[in-house]
Amino acid sequence: MPIELFAMERMQSTWENVVDYDMSESGVRPLTLRELVAMGFDLEEFLDQPLGYSQSNGTIELRQRIAALYPGASADQVEVTNGTSEANYLIALSQLRSGDGFAMEAPNYMQMPGVARSLGADVRTFRLRQDTGWEPDWDELERAVTPHTQLLYLSNPNNPTGSVLSDEAMARIVKRCEATGAWLLSDEVYLGAEIDRPRTKTFWGMSDRVIVTSGLSKAYGIPGVRIGWIVAPKGLTEACWTQHDYLTIGPNKMSDRIARVAVMKKNREKCYARTRKILKQNLPIAREWVESFGGRLTWREPEAGAIGLLKYSGGTPSVEIAERIRAKQSTLIVPGSHVGLEGHLRIWLGGTEEFLREGLRRIGKELKQL
Ligand SMILES: Cc1ncc(COP(=O)(O)O)c(C=O)c1O
Repeated sequence: MPIELFAMERMQSTWENVVDYDMSESGVRPLTLRELVAMGFDLEEFLDQPLGYSQSNGTIELRQRIAALYPGASADQVEVTNGTSEANYLIALSQLRSGDGFAMEAPNYMQMPGVARSLGADVRTFRLRQDTGWEPDWDELERAVTPHTQLLYLSNPNNPTGSVLSDEAMARIVKRCEATGAWLLSDEVYLGAEIDRPRTKTFWGMSDRVIVTSGLSKAYGIPGVRIGWIVAPKGLTEACWTQHDYLTIGPNKMSDRIARVAVMKKNREKCYARTRKILKQNLPIAREWVESFGGRLTWREPEAGAIGLLKYSGGTPSVEIAERIRAKQSTLIVPGSHVGLEGHLRIWLGGTEEFLREGLRRIGKELKQL
């Protein structure tokens, strides 16, 4: 089946390097290799590294270090991928067949519904509700996750709301997956990007129906090396490896090496601390800006991630607003329709103070005219 356009990614690829202010991002401004050298990355040794193929499922050393982040996991349960997006894709390829049920919370990062539909799956969504602090609508969840469901996808912390599921909500979702036999795919790429709250809990270990994907792109602030991973029961990891052999063979050898340094516990904590510092500085700036609209623009502040989801009043389609801001202010934002929630706009909170202030000023100039 032909695959539909991934609207948000295509909009970003088209404009993000053309506009003056790319406010459509969702991770913090990235680290440099120099910063990784300061964390112990051996640049001299790197220069002599032969640029051959790497181990296709990730080097043993990297998989061991990733497994150490997930209690009870072993290296053979880990598949290293080209970003979290490839990790998600491999799970869909290996698990979904035509006619299978696929459930997903919305709003969300909208990679998976497009992939699932292209494989012939029947996609059902359940809402996260702003009025209950972005908890799932439980009636909708029960209708979406049935014995017919092969896979449930969620992101926690969630893109685009920046919300984190409560312990009770996590337990309830796991229970539903166990009762129906669905796999629970928890995309945890924002775990570690909490702004002012305790570390998000992983779903890993809550049930043998749980699969976790993650990567270096968001909480770590290292998207350019394109390293992600899958942690799953062994048979499922192996099925993903089989797909991987056909798709890209494996991750980039240089990236594998960089990732080995980044995921070491002490370095991971440094990356997370850097992310938290940036977001703590930027959140009050964004808060003040939202307040300047006197209630015409509202939000529930993000708990994690460099993203703010704004609700605007009036019925103008979000794509129209985003397009107007891009054309008139050379500033890119994400329309809510691209993340499964019309009537909203997603903005980036991870830039330098100067960048954030100017980006917000430009967005505000157009919004105030609406
Ligand atoms: C929830 C979620 N998963 C995956 C991705 C893609 O991540 P990566 O760059 O690691 O492929 C994104 C990017 O925005 C995301 O928000």
